[in-house]
Amino acid sequence: MARTCLTIILAAGQGTRMKSALPKVLHPVAGIPMAAHVAETARAAGSEAIAVVVGHGSDDVRDALAGALEGASFHEQTEQLGTAHAVLAARDAIARGYDDVLVMFGDTPLVRPQVMQEARAKLAGGAAVVVVGFRPENPFGYGRLIEAGGHLLAIREERDTSDEEKGISLCNGGIMAFSGRHVLEFLDAVGNANAKGEYYMTDTVEIARKQGRDVVAIEAPVEDVIGVNTRADLAAVEAIWQRRARDRMLAGGVTMIAPETVFLSHDTVIEPDVVIEPNVVFGLGVTVRSGARIHAFCHFEQATIGERAEVGPFARLRPGADLRERSKVGNFCEVKKSVIGEGAKVNHLTYIGDAVIGPKANIGAGTITCNYDGFGKHLTEIGENAFVGSNSSLVAPVRIGNGAYIASGSVVTMSVPDDAVAFGRARQENKEGMALKLRARLKAAKKA
Ligand code: UD1
Ligand code: CA
Repeated sequence: MARTCLTIILAAGQGTRMKSALPKVLHPVAGIPMAAHVAETARAAGSEAIAVVVGHGSDDVRDALAGALEGASFHEQTEQLGTAHAVLAARDAIARGYDDVLVMFGDTPLVRPQVMQEARAKLAGGAAVVVVGFRPENPFGYGRLIEAGGHLLAIREERDTSDEEKGISLCNGGIMAFSGRHVLEFLDAVGNANAKGEYYMTDTVEIARKQGRDVVAIEAPVEDVIGVNTRADLAAVEAIWQRRARDRMLAGGVTMIAPETVFLSHDTVIEPDVVIEPNVVFGLGVTVRSGARIHAFCHFEQATIGERAEVGPFARLRPGADLRERSKVGNFCEVKKSVIGEGAKVNHLTYIGDAVIGPKANIGAGTITCNYDGFGKHLTEIGENAFVGSNSSLVAPVRIGNGAYIASGSVVTMSVPDDAVAFGRARQENKEGMALKLRARLKAAKKA
């Protein structure tokens, strides 16, 4: 039988060093709050229940995470009296009874599921407490893990270590896993007789050992346990997340000419055989189908790029842009909430918003869909094989029929039937010789 698992995410910290009005755990990494990454890892490690411990009056944290962490319960830690105290704020959740109880930090978003799975495997093997250790380049300031014979004896904080213990390179990464049957007993026994007067979750190591329970440490890569305290940490974490994501994309068959200049979001989907040129930003909700080519300097959010479509350079796809197979959106074009039909082309300097463009239509340079009248948004429909001449304004709501032609420079305010040609501009007049007279007049005026 699969073991049941609860993950408690500690998210009550103030994060004052971020110097932000936004609570620390809500700062985004890859487009979603860092605490949401922690929850994703927990779920991937098989944790069916998630309890988030938030600070007093942090409705904003609750509201922001409720969407991202569907089904999670929230618990308030009124005063920040330490990590053990924080975990106990979720006592109700623990009391529901789980085989495994994992404690993760909302400000430590790079932990991979394998780490939590390894911790759970130790619990399944009989350990009552598992500590996730790591070997930092410089262990100064971290609690050292005192081990003997594969068992963890204690976690010794920097200021309490002997000279010999200072040489221990395995440190506490902060994350712990507990046997659900014993965790409340351990936590209830934690006192606050230490320099900071806090209830430390790390004290459960010695408490469990005194009760004759098995306590072990596992080792995680340094990257996985990096906590965010400052904006610089946040940037470092983002960089690591991006590198991992690019590596996954490359391994999945995506070509990136300069991967370090491509920025992805947590939900970006890019199919094999897509080519991405340098300097492209993928906001949330973007899918790129196989064989598409993304030229340099593009920005996308909530958009779909169809098979073998071509986008950019310098294109912006906003929410609801839906580029169908083999369509093209070229330089200095913006597309919002619009379908660009199969094989259709929007190649230069164009704004397409609230439009449905049929297959193989050609939209000339400088075309603008005038979709907004200051109050509402209106639809522009452009039929299959239609041809819109350059520098046309299509004043929505309006429909351009299948195969219709729009003369360049038109302002189209009435719908155009299938296969019609629309001239929406003044007729040209030529006045023979008039330029000579005009020039003479202007010259005389300047002299006077
Ligand atoms: C913790 C570990 C330390 C480890 C380090 C690794 C403890 C006691 N110490 O120290 O051994 O080397 O992580 O980074 O566990 N929190 C609450 N409520 C509280 C206190 C903390 O929600 O009352 C949350 C914080 O927001 C944070 C996390 O718990 O997300 C860790 O607390 P923090 O005070 O940052 O612990 P460290 O001093 O970093
Ligand atoms: Ca910390």
